[in-house]
Amino acid sequence: MVNEAKLEINEATTLPALQETRVKYLGKKGWLTAELKTLGNLTPDERKIKGAALNIVKTELEAMFDAREAALNAAALEAKLSGEALDVTLPGTKFQAGGLHLLTRIIDDLAVIYKSMGYQVVQGQEVETELYNFDALNIPAWHPARDLWDTFWLTDGRVLRTHTSPMQARYMQAFAPPFKIVVPGKVFRFEAVDATHESMFHQLEGLAVAPGITMADLKGTLEEMAKGLFGERAKIRFQPSYYPFTEPSADFAVYWENPRTGTAKWLELGGSGMVHPRVFEEVCKLRGDEVYAGARGFAFGLGIERIAMIKYGVPDIRYFFQNDLRVLKQFRGALE
Ligand code: PHE
Repeated sequence: MVNEAKLEINEATTLPALQETRVKYLGKKGWLTAELKTLGNLTPDERKIKGAALNIVKTELEAMFDAREAALNAAALEAKLSGEALDVTLPGTKFQAGGLHLLTRIIDDLAVIYKSMGYQVVQGQEVETELYNFDALNIPAWHPARDLWDTFWLTDGRVLRTHTSPMQARYMQAFAPPFKIVVPGKVFRFEAVDATHESMFHQLEGLAVAPGITMADLKGTLEEMAKGLFGERAKIRFQPSYYPFTEPSADFAVYWENPRTGTAKWLELGGSGMVHPRVFEEVCKLRGDEVYAGARGFAFGLGIERIAMIKYGVPDIRYFFQNDLRVLKQFRGALE
């Protein structure tokens, strides 16, 4: 009987057939149970011998069943896998390729231009304290210039930064001159939204501090940027302006030729000037040393959206932030 069982185990070619065999020999109503029941009719000595023999058979058969079951499972898996073999000749599924957002592209372009002039690109934080957004930049609470920046206040007294200029103070607090940095990033203002105003937009801040630095260096730097963005014929003009953290201050516009229409225009891009001595004084207070006492530097800040709008002919600033893929797709060609 035991040999028969072994034969049947090896001959079972499917899991159900094997299970049937298992029930037949080891099940409740199977062969082994019946054999065990006969033990009661034997003498104690005979019972001992046969009982031990049956136990060995049971262990042996169970092991064989388990081994066969594992083998059948493996074979079933193998069959399933080979049935599912990859057909490499099938056409692939096309997935949508993305493109860089126009603003990302402009920021990247600006980073390349400024790095070529030896600038470091650093990032600030979007939630700022009053200290860095205003006070350290020579804009005390009573100063009318605070009205220039309609602000989103957090309930804990912090602000969504209204410009990237807070990084001027933060950077100087942490690092000694000389240095040149640009700071791209998001800024927030409580604006009435229209085609040219959004309550969130992007700026690029620039700050260079070194002995003997002048307005001429500032102009040369901005002109180099203009050429990098709009080609060799681009140029920069200054117009007197006012910022509490620069003196003198100048707004700047870039003269650029539109290759699509052949026309040339001045585009107001941002504000700039020589770092106000008061800013260096505030920084000295923050640092608790005199490293910036009497320092010289220039700073500028410009709007990224304006560049993207005129460079790519986007008529409405809101298009940048509506997540409408048609806008991104439309300019993908222009970006590559
Ligand atoms: N922070 C100013 C603004 O947002 C721009 C600026 C930066 C002006 C640096 C001068 C120097 O309008």
